[in-house]
Amino acid sequence: MVVVAQISDLHFNGTAAHRSRAAGVLAYLDAAHTEGHAVSGLLVTGDLVDVGLPEEYTEAAAALVTDIPTITLLGNHDDRAAYTSVRDGVASTAPVNSALRLDDLLVLGLDSSVPGRSDGYLADETLDWARAELAAAGDVDVLLSWHHPPLPIGLPRMDERRMHDAERAAALIADHPNVVGTVVGHAHTPAATMFAGRPLIVAPGVSSTLNLPFEGTGWLNATQGPGIAFHIIEDHRLTTHYRVLSTW
Ligand SMILES: [Fe+2]
Ligand SMILES: [Fe+2]
Repeated sequence: MVVVAQISDLHFNGTAAHRSRAAGVLAYLDAAHTEGHAVSGLLVTGDLVDVGLPEEYTEAAAALVTDIPTITLLGNHDDRAAYTSVRDGVASTAPVNSALRLDDLLVLGLDSSVPGRSDGYLADETLDWARAELAAAGDVDVLLSWHHPPLPIGLPRMDERRMHDAERAAALIADHPNVVGTVVGHAHTPAATMFAGRPLIVAPGVSSTLNLPFEGTGWLNATQGPGIAFHIIEDHRLTTHYRVLSTW
């Protein structure tokens, strides 16, 4: 059994409000990791910062300190050059794709961001990289992740900004039976559905939660705390548990 924690949409923006929500989920994760030795990896599925400024990434790097092996993906609020300049000391505009092997699981993080746009897309370069990683994985279970939901999930304003040409992602999954599911962010709401015949899990937002159309006319839900998803992968099956903090 492998446990992967997921947090998403931290939107570091220099405010104490967003810093404290991120600190709350990190403290919760570190406590679970230390006490149970159960959390094998951490996925941060994009919109790490709000505007894409280098100083926001410096703030994020100072806050996201953990012993848990971590993959960080980029979202539509991120900026590849600013992110890589802070992470690596060299600015790059190439897609930020990364892999993390955890015991019997391979986690792949694909860059679905498109510079200058709110919606998402998997570029040829990213798909080629993912296909090579999946081929090398053989029979090992694979958890896919990227930022944008690839299909409507009942949140009209975010559905407009979902991944486009999602059949490219669906084909990637269809060609690889070792994919146990896909986990995404972007929508700031814990949700679960199916995509390409496998589970498609949406992480809660750390910085905020978005309302469904029948929850009111406001864009943001004012009462929900920062959330975490815990993904358990066992016997080629994905089970997800959600936690929402009441204090942070
Ligand atoms: Fe976001
Ligand atoms: Fe987003």
